[in-house]
Amino acid sequence: MPAHDTSDVLVVGSGIAGLAAALGAVREGSDVTLATKATRPEGASSWWAQGGIAVSRDDPEQFKRDILAASDDTADPDAVDVLVENANEAVEDVLFDTLDVEFDRVEPRSTATDERASTTPANLADLDYTREAAHSEDRILHVDAATGKHIHVPFLNYLDAHDGVEILDDTAALELIRHEGRVHGAMLEADDEVTPHYAGSVVLATGGIGELYPRTTNPDDATGDGIAMAALAGADVEDMEYVQFHPTACTVDKEVAFLVSEAVRGEGGLLRNGDGERFMPAYHEDAELAPRDVVARAVETEREATGEVTLDVSPVDFAEEFPGLAERCDDNGVDWETGIPVAPAEHFLCGGVSVDEFGRTTLDRLYAVGECSRTGVHGANRLASTSLLEGLVWGLRAGEDAAGESVEPIEAPDLLERDPDLPPKFARDKFHRLRRVMDEQLGVERDPEELNRAMAVLRRLKGEVDAYVRTRTSRSLYELRHASVTALLVARHAAENTESVGTHNLVREEPAEPSAD
Ligand code: SIN
Repeated sequence: MPAHDTSDVLVVGSGIAGLAAALGAVREGSDVTLATKATRPEGASSWWAQGGIAVSRDDPEQFKRDILAASDDTADPDAVDVLVENANEAVEDVLFDTLDVEFDRVEPRSTATDERASTTPANLADLDYTREAAHSEDRILHVDAATGKHIHVPFLNYLDAHDGVEILDDTAALELIRHEGRVHGAMLEADDEVTPHYAGSVVLATGGIGELYPRTTNPDDATGDGIAMAALAGADVEDMEYVQFHPTACTVDKEVAFLVSEAVRGEGGLLRNGDGERFMPAYHEDAELAPRDVVARAVETEREATGEVTLDVSPVDFAEEFPGLAERCDDNGVDWETGIPVAPAEHFLCGGVSVDEFGRTTLDRLYAVGECSRTGVHGANRLASTSLLEGLVWGLRAGEDAAGESVEPIEAPDLLERDPDLPPKFARDKFHRLRRVMDEQLGVERDPEELNRAMAVLRRLKGEVDAYVRTRTSRSLYELRHASVTALLVARHAAENTESVGTHNLVREEPAEPSAD
């Protein structure tokens, strides 16, 4: 057998879900390899998370109702139960007791917090809980509006120092190694070398699909790798049409510069259209705090009708409460005192690889966690600040469940001897075409008449990429392959779902009036 590596559990991806899976597995005594495309630390979406992490506090039932309402009652109630019932314990165990994350706290302690402290575990009392859209109470833990990195960095450091965990940076997974419905590892690429890595179980935690869209809040490289690898191996994939757009990405020269957290609206920020008018009250009774899909559509509509939409932060003590965001505005030449220009940008995929309450996919010994998975928690629209929580809860559960399987090396796919060169122009052109289709036909609004056409274009594109995959093995080619497989899944699921719900918003374009001349 040619050179290969082995571990009990192979985790692919280094966001909070992957890190939690590694922690869950190593606590069970497994040796874990965590392979990540990211070069540390900014490569994972979790690092970029601003708003925070929601907890159940002392009312999981209300938290559940909010999640279901934000999803237009399409979330799976059993999956939501798993989330809300495990939220406090997972946050306490990992974020407080293991990592000692310094969440913002209230000072002095208010009467309301005192009352809560009687039923809320000690770690979760005294904290500066904030609110975001569609939450009916303040339940979001945060560190400024830069929560992700304050969790991600200590988490990576903790695992790095752990004897049972090996972290492989700048390492991509290209294909799963599978045999008779069972997954035995993955082909990993680093420095243009491809090596089979055999594992008792594989946990996919590869994040989202931001690279499929021209405007995204995701970091580079979010090409849907885990979803594509799982789908190509035969795993079930669900709800891919539910692509969530964040309503307030700051734009500079029409490009997305950075995300402006929903917490800014939670603290009083107002949306104004190109005429300077506040418009959200006309769209929803909760105005700026309506569910994210509603706000994203309203912002898009107002941008088309009136020009640039801005976030008015004058009701907020912006520099004091959001120093990191104020600094980013300054660095990007945005005068936040006159309003921050914002537009919707692709933010989060609510669907993905179908999993059960332990992150188990439909393939034996293959798990998926975090954004690449479809647990059912989000349905057609995710509630703000539940993604880090979902990654943490399912990551731990999957890691624990994945531990303890024996490694069985089998013959790996024949990827080793191929020509690694991909003409850069080929990848650039294909990505350009793919993003145009996703932007025009699979964005905030979708014309049902166009979805079959989008599918046809994407199918052709995938065919052209597949022809290259038969003879070449570079990382950029496989990213393009994964992007084309994932884009086609989004288009197919969108075409199959004729119900307009949540983020899947079907709007039939009016045919153009015949001109008079
Ligand atoms: C935000 O801070 O607005 C993003 C939070 C989230 O995506 O849940």
